[in-house]
Amino acid sequence: MSNARKPHPVPFTVEGLPEREISQLRAWGFRSHAEVVRTNPSRVNLRPAFSHLAHAYYNFEFRPDDLVLATYPRSGTTWASEILWAMRNLGRLEQADEAANGDRTMFIDMDFLMPSRAEDDNPKVKEFLTLFPEGRVEDGVVLQMAKCHKGPRIIKTHLQIDLLNHDLLDTCRTVYIARNPKDVCVSLFHHGKISKMDAFEGEFSDFAEAFMADQVIYGPYWDHVKQAWKLRDHANLHFMFYEDMKLDIIGELRKLARFLQLDFTDEQLKTISEHASFGRMKSRHEREASGRNHTPGFFRKGQTGDWENAASGELTAAMDRWISDNSQDTDIVFKYT
Ligand code: A3P
Repeated sequence: MSNARKPHPVPFTVEGLPEREISQLRAWGFRSHAEVVRTNPSRVNLRPAFSHLAHAYYNFEFRPDDLVLATYPRSGTTWASEILWAMRNLGRLEQADEAANGDRTMFIDMDFLMPSRAEDDNPKVKEFLTLFPEGRVEDGVVLQMAKCHKGPRIIKTHLQIDLLNHDLLDTCRTVYIARNPKDVCVSLFHHGKISKMDAFEGEFSDFAEAFMADQVIYGPYWDHVKQAWKLRDHANLHFMFYEDMKLDIIGELRKLARFLQLDFTDEQLKTISEHASFGRMKSRHEREASGRNHTPGFFRKGQTGDWENAASGELTAAMDRWISDNSQDTDIVFKYT
């Protein structure tokens, strides 16, 4: 008898955007304006390939020894994933010089984010086709390789929790990192300027307007964060703030280790924090500058409070109103400096 689990029916649909919203995205300066689909009823903006992969994501089988890292984009995902990897690989940290973060951890969203994965010269696709010559790229390269991966996995996603398998928290540990919306907005804007995928050509004020209108990729920001915040007391969810990591990394690593039931000395925590420091991560990234994982400018500033350098007084007033309106039904409090 097969022990395959029965697939869960997907409790949402994925739809195209109305022409009016596509025009608005174009007017703001999004080059990828036509390449957006939206979940219904949750209204999460994703790339078109998500339409046929929604079932695969919703039914992706987590395992008890997985560590899942869930974040809204630009909230410190790469930093936290390097920390999680270092906690699991303390005796062999030099391996981080041999393989990029993206090869030591699994970013499952790549399967719908990368345009035309089958056509481009992506080494991940080639690796997949070498392993599975008959494999179907359109079914998700990272998803299928993750499924076949033996041993504990570190899985990263920006998908909000209700788009993932509802067995997630009953199965494995999840770490959620939140970052204040002002700095997320600034960081996302800069990323949009350098990223082929997000391709943004407008002004910062236009981007901020789109962000507050929940129109950027992975928006709405507040639903994403609030969903995880509501689950913060769940034994299998650990909620962390980027700003707290900046203020007291050792204290945050200690809490994280406790959640993971790992025992480290203070000296070991220091080693982990230094291994994952902004400077070290940036220079490792730059050393593989000729490699496929390199995005110049990905490690931008790594600071809290950059909004102050980017926004006018008028925009700050609008953002503060937006934050206040969206904070009515939650007790989540962010640090902005
Ligand atoms: P900035 O653009 O504000 O510099 P993500 O990995 O979720 O995409 O988040 C990217 C943000 O995290 C960027 O923010 C990046 O510089 C910052 N970051 C990456 N590594 C970091 C580290 N080790 N310490 C602090 N910030 C880091």
